[in-house]
Amino acid sequence: MKTGTIIKNFFANDGRKVILRTLKWEDLDDCLEFINSLVEEGADITVFQKVTREYEIDWLSKQLAEVEKGNTFIVVAEVGGKLVANSSITKKTGYSKHVGVLGISIKDGYRDIGIGTEMMNTLISKGKEMGLKIITLTVFSSNSRAKHVYEKVGFRETGRIPKEIYKNGEFIDHIFMVKELTS
Ligand SMILES: CC(C)(COP(=O)(O)OP(=O)(O)OC[C@H]1O[C@@H](n2cnc3c(N)ncnc32)[C@H](O)[C@@H]1OP(=O)(O)O)[C@@H](O)C(=O)NCCC(=O)NCCS
Repeated sequence: MKTGTIIKNFFANDGRKVILRTLKWEDLDDCLEFINSLVEEGADITVFQKVTREYEIDWLSKQLAEVEKGNTFIVVAEVGGKLVANSSITKKTGYSKHVGVLGISIKDGYRDIGIGTEMMNTLISKGKEMGLKIITLTVFSSNSRAKHVYEKVGFRETGRIPKEIYKNGEFIDHIFMVKELTS
């Protein structure tokens, strides 16, 4: 799918209009602000240090190249002309090429209004189109909202690494979740 292609428009539960679309090069500055805002608030994600514009240029170039090759599908959410969420599904390789790895984050101020659930369902449909049989993801055990959303769309916990995350002086389990795709 071409960069910047609109996938879906919908109204969030608070009435704001949301556009789900593919990532594009012009998202660079929004992506930078987005990831650094997540780091600043201490969100339950694996990135823990703010990134530079140079880093983000490199990251975005690589992402768009992987999209072009068909290895990754990226959906962003736009509200009022600003990128407020990013999500992706990336195909594994070799004997695991039927497996996709999913990631998602929504900016503070845009959570709990249904955007995450819509994006998850969009990624799951795309995963099927990509021919995937299984989608996997990881989530911090402290992230009860994310776990709830993942369970709601059909993921189940299949294991965890105890204390794999050390954040703000506390050990947190890293949970593995899986959804098998049926046509
Ligand atoms: C996790 C995340 C992707 C979910 O997206 P979202 O847009 O906020 O989710 P939605 O609005 O679609 O749904 C939220 C659901 O969680 C529920 N919820 C909210 N807080 C909760 C909590 N503390 N514990 C359990 N459930 C909670 C809501 O009631 C709602 O449930 P419902 O749809 O059954 O009524 C988003 O909140 C986010 O990006 N958080 C910060 C970054 C992050 O954690 N990324 C994921 C890393 S694995």
